[in-house]
Parts: sequence; C-alpha cells; structure tokens
Amino acid sequence: MKKKILVTGGIGYIGSHTVVELQNAGYEVVIVDDLSNSTIEVLDGIEKITGIRPPFVKLDLKDKEGVGRLFEAHAGINGIIHFAASKAVGESVQQPLKYYRNNIVTLLNLLDLMPSNGVQGIVFSSSCTVYGQPDILPVTEEAPIKPALSPYGNTKQINEEIIRDTLHAGAPFKSIILRYFNPIGAHPSAEIGELPNGVPQNLIPYLTQTAIGIRKELSVFGDDYNTPDGSCIRDYINVVDLAKAHVVAIDRMLGSKSGENLEIFNLGTGNGVSVLELIHGFEKATGVKVPHKIVGRREGDIEKVWANPEHANKVLGWTAKESLEDTLASAWKWQLKLRERGIQ
Ligand code: UFG
Repeated sequence: MKKKILVTGGIGYIGSHTVVELQNAGYEVVIVDDLSNSTIEVLDGIEKITGIRPPFVKLDLKDKEGVGRLFEAHAGINGIIHFAASKAVGESVQQPLKYYRNNIVTLLNLLDLMPSNGVQGIVFSSSCTVYGQPDILPVTEEAPIKPALSPYGNTKQINEEIIRDTLHAGAPFKSIILRYFNPIGAHPSAEIGELPNGVPQNLIPYLTQTAIGIRKELSVFGDDYNTPDGSCIRDYINVVDLAKAHVVAIDRMLGSKSGENLEIFNLGTGNGVSVLELIHGFEKATGVKVPHKIVGRREGDIEKVWANPEHANKVLGWTAKESLEDTLASAWKWQLKLRERGIQ
C-alpha cells in the first residue's frame, strides 16, 4: 500500500515541487495550506506534471481542532513534511508576534496530535539562517547556532529546539530537520514555480522580474563585503533537487534503516556564488540582460555562507545535480510562462 504523506504548505514554492516529487516516487499526498501566500491554481500545475490531483484541505494549522479533524478525515497518514510558515525576514521584524504565532503554534499542534494519529515522523523545513555568519566555511551541521538576526530566523531555531526537546522526552516518532540554503529556479515544465506576493524580496524573483521589464533595475545590496567581487555569497540550490531530498528523507524516516530519532542535514550544493556572479550567470544562461546598480548593504544580510553537503551526500545518498546555468534558465522560463498566463 502507498504510504500517505501530509504536506503542510504544499501549495507554496518548495512545497509544490516536493508534492510533485513525492507523487512521482509513488507516495500518496494530502496537502494542507491556508493559501495565505499562495493560490489554488498551483494544484492544476501539480496535476499537469504528475497526472494526479492530490486531495487539498484549506486550513490554518493554528486551529488545533481543525488539525484533529484533518487527521480523522485523512486517516492513516504515515509522515508529515512541514513547510507551512511565514517566511519574509523583513516583515518578521515589523510583525514579530505574527511570526511567533504562525510558525510556532502550527508546529506545536502537529507534534501534539501526531502520536494519537499514529504518524511516524515529521520532516521539518529549517534554514541555513540558523548558522548566522559561520566562522568556518563551508558550514557543517556541527557549526554553532548563532543568535538569530530576525524573528523569522528565531522561529526556525525555536522550532528546531521544540522538535529536539519533544523527541528527547520520548515522543513516539522520528524527525529529520533539513536546513535549506537558497532555493531557486522552477520545475523544468514551467507548470509550477515561485510566485511572490507584491514586490519580491528575494534575489531571483526580483532579477527575473527586472529581466522581463516589470522592474526597472535590480539593486545589488553592497559591493564592499570581504568577498572576491565585494558582493554577498550564497549557496543557490535548484528547487527540484531540494524537493527530491525530501523524498529521500521521507524514505529514510519511514523506512527501518535510520536508527536515530532525530537527524539534521544541510541541503546545499557546496558552491558559493556571489550576487554579481549570479547576475552574469543568468545573462549567460538566457542571453537576457539584467539592468542593475550597486546600492548600500541590506540590513541583516550575512556576508557569505555556503554548505558543506557531505553529510547529506553520504548518509541520505542525495546530491544536488542541476547546474546553476540550467537552474537560472528554469527561473527565466517560469517568468516567461507567468507573462503568457497574464499573471506577472
Ligand atoms: N539581494 C540583492 N538584491 C535584491 C535581493 C537580494 O542584492 O534585490 C542579495 C542579498 O543581499 C543577498 C542575496 O541577494 O546577498 C540573496 O538574498 P535573498 O533575499 O534572495 O536570500 P537570503 O540569503 O537573504 O535569505 C534567504 C531566504 C530566507 C532565509 C535565508 C537563509 O529569503 O528566508 O535565505 O536561509 F532565511
């Protein structure tokens, strides 16, 4: 019998790509999402790619009774992948309580209700933001957790601690925490991709919107960092590669192989790429120019961070495969598709 996975935030950017890979791998998926930062049309994209329209429940996971009803209506959920969260760093500084409430109460409700519903494990979406500016690069999972620079970052740290403490107390399930570096790109079919609300805060959506003429100019936040070209360095990982890592994590968590009840993995490529390199890489991959100018630093930005992905490579048997060039081309194809659909 197919194993059943509840994907929270499964209509969102990383969530939708993961639903596709889970269904391709033979899992039965149930999506729960409150659509606060996503649109239901994403389900059409998932169905076009996989031929399967997964059951969808519109629910705010802060509603504990609602979560209880969800488990009853979809009995037999084996595992959860928990993406649903608020994720805008800047907004979290303005509205900290919204972030603490949305990102913490939702996890508490899931963890509370997992045992009575026989759920065997939860994969949690964390972030390299927990490392702050690491002292040693590339950063491994053993690197110290640094004080968070935003309430958003703090919620990821607190979430990790909540999971650790719950398992330490003997909760009858397993967990895998995945620390993402910078996910970019879109499904190669361009049926799903990233759809930011309003003015994009992240580099790639701003860049592709500039390339297509929605925005006049991309601002490069600082060229006076201690990096070879002065701009910040990140580890940009293809979103489909990232999605596939979740399938491997679910296989491992629900299989009998992993002995540990809590495991943590970095999901990155291992390559650091600067903002300016990324812009030039995009221009090379697509032949489209990106008007840009250097402006001052953005508050709270980390100078440089990239992953040591060896632990995930060895233990999960997963490696990021897509080239940066193909990934950037996929982001562009998605932006063109959005224009075709009259969305952006
Ligand atoms: N940048 C620009 N111009 C822009 C947008 C971004 O130069 O218009 C630069 C930033 O300064 C940074 C790099 O591009 O150097 C990447 O910025 P993003 O906003 O795309 O990503 P971040 O690394 O700041 O943050 C992302 C997610 C967070 C997450 C963090 C670490 O947005 O949610 O990675 O995991 F916490």
